[in-house]
Amino acid sequence: MSSANTTTILKQIDSFPPLPATVNRVMEITGNPESSANELMQAILPDLAMCASILKTANSAFFGRPRSVCSIQEAIVVLGFQEIRNIVLTQAMFNSFQKFRNTNKKNIDALWQHSLTCGLAARIIASHNRQNRHPPSQLYIAGLIHDIGKLIMLSALPNSYNQVFELAEKLRYSFFPEEEETFGISHDTAGMRLLNRWLFPDQFCFSAGYHHCPDHAPEGATFPLIIQMADILSHILQTGESLDGKELLEMIHDFTPAITQLWVHYDLNWQAEDIDIWLSELRASLEDESVFSLFNA
Ligand SMILES: [Fe+2]
Ligand SMILES: [Fe+2]
Repeated sequence: MSSANTTTILKQIDSFPPLPATVNRVMEITGNPESSANELMQAILPDLAMCASILKTANSAFFGRPRSVCSIQEAIVVLGFQEIRNIVLTQAMFNSFQKFRNTNKKNIDALWQHSLTCGLAARIIASHNRQNRHPPSQLYIAGLIHDIGKLIMLSALPNSYNQVFELAEKLRYSFFPEEEETFGISHDTAGMRLLNRWLFPDQFCFSAGYHHCPDHAPEGATFPLIIQMADILSHILQTGESLDGKELLEMIHDFTPAITQLWVHYDLNWQAEDIDIWLSELRASLEDESVFSLFNA
């Protein structure tokens, strides 16, 4: 373990730029059931770049069929609080990625695509949950930010972490076992630490911290299980593998039987047919090329 690497990463977490004031205010307002549409509008209007981003997204196919939305007021009515929060947070995340793009464009872009795909996959899985226990818009955010620790590590140690990142991509690993040994901290722990610092609710911190080991998450934390599945689906689609639901279930059962037991424990009852439906919906949403260019101002 390199303690110098660990110190650099921990310093990076503690000095990582905070979320912009607009984002914090929007999170606060949309998280409070007492808030009014007018309060949300007043929080967004001073931020012109954010207004443009909301209108552009509202008029794209990202949230279903394109709509003809001309003002922020209309966007709030048509999309609702949760989707407005998702757009604001997605744009803020995209901006965080862009800040580090100059030094390693290829890997930062790959990480952004993976994060967005995982968010879309998590939203699809949650939207099919029969008991409606998991709000799809929250799962979208959890998926979007699950690998933020990789962004921290890529930005703290561009050269050495780039090599690990590229090797993991080449071997098609979503998790590189030597990460912790080499850097003294793994991306899941680093991500959870940052989200804690940003005062994200527990379920989001746990999604980042336990998406590779949901069986280590505190009792009651179900987001990491959904994000783990969304992570696997996004890797399947991005690497072009042709696994179907049945093969994927068998693989998970063979390699990590504890995870399938946890699905039963939380009454998730995922079947091969469910996975096939999620994969085809995810494929369809990714066919829309604009998804990845949407947040590029
Ligand atoms: Fe990860
Ligand atoms: Fe991931």
